[in-house]
Amino acid sequence: MSQWRPIKPSTRKDEDRPARRPTRRPPLSVFPTTLWEYPSQHYDASDGSTMQGSKHYTGATPSWIIWQLLQRYTREGDKVVDPMCGSGTTLDVCKDINRVGVGFDLVPSRDDITKADARKIPLADASIDFAFVDPPYSTHIDYSDDPNCIGKLDAAGDDGGKAYYDAMRRVIAEIDRVLIPRRYMALYVSDSWRKNKGKGKSGSAVRGGTFMPIGFELFAMMRQHFEPVDIICVARKNDKIGRGNWRKAAIEENFFLRGFNYCFIMKKP
Ligand SMILES: C[S@@+](CC[C@H](N)C(=O)[O-])C[C@H]1O[C@@H](n2cnc3c(N)ncnc32)[C@H](O)[C@@H]1O
Repeated sequence: MSQWRPIKPSTRKDEDRPARRPTRRPPLSVFPTTLWEYPSQHYDASDGSTMQGSKHYTGATPSWIIWQLLQRYTREGDKVVDPMCGSGTTLDVCKDINRVGVGFDLVPSRDDITKADARKIPLADASIDFAFVDPPYSTHIDYSDDPNCIGKLDAAGDDGGKAYYDAMRRVIAEIDRVLIPRRYMALYVSDSWRKNKGKGKSGSAVRGGTFMPIGFELFAMMRQHFEPVDIICVARKNDKIGRGNWRKAAIEENFFLRGFNYCFIMKKP
């Protein structure tokens, strides 16, 4: 998940300023390595559209990641499910490259997304060619008021994150159920780190924080169902990483800004 902004040429009219070439997004091609990076959240699609999903949706998946996965692991006409479809990025990429996208979300943001809980996907067993999912990474984004939102479950809560991990275990089991054997799925996720809040006995702010290794925990769960195909490291370029005050705090307070997301690629035996 990231909050990249597409690179746009400035619209400011300034006759004194030397003419600048508009910044174009590089055309997409299939990446050869396990380190993925692209300078925009969206790509320029074959029909001339310049956005997939919504740029206003906090937590939308960079669409080019889904494009990379579908190019490698699906063919034209294949059925692709996203059980946590958010702003519909997966559906737009499917449309662009002639896959049949099927989208669900607890809180559908548009008409082509059907309301459903990802722990109970309303699809028949072994009916889907590929599944993509970008789940909530613990409580880092408030997606909706729906009490069933997995983003309300704290991976570092008093229960040791049990409720969050139990919920994700059920989502993964559902993906396994609907996927056709020998087909692929991908899960895009980040670990999380939360700064301690409050004051110590001396009245000074409590230092340190809590690391949540969500990526490895979910990978271990997926291994109960699937064969690992590969692990992709996706470089994040969100606003927070670029901001001077956050970068300074990360060094002074000895924590890390999250520089990458995992994209786990798995195959159903
Ligand atoms: C990271 S966002 C998905 C972003 C999406 N891939 C996009 O590009 O817009 C996670 C989504 O999971 C949804 N969600 C949370 N709990 C859910 C559940 N139990 N069942 C289905 N969707 C759920 C949220 O409503 C949110 O839209």
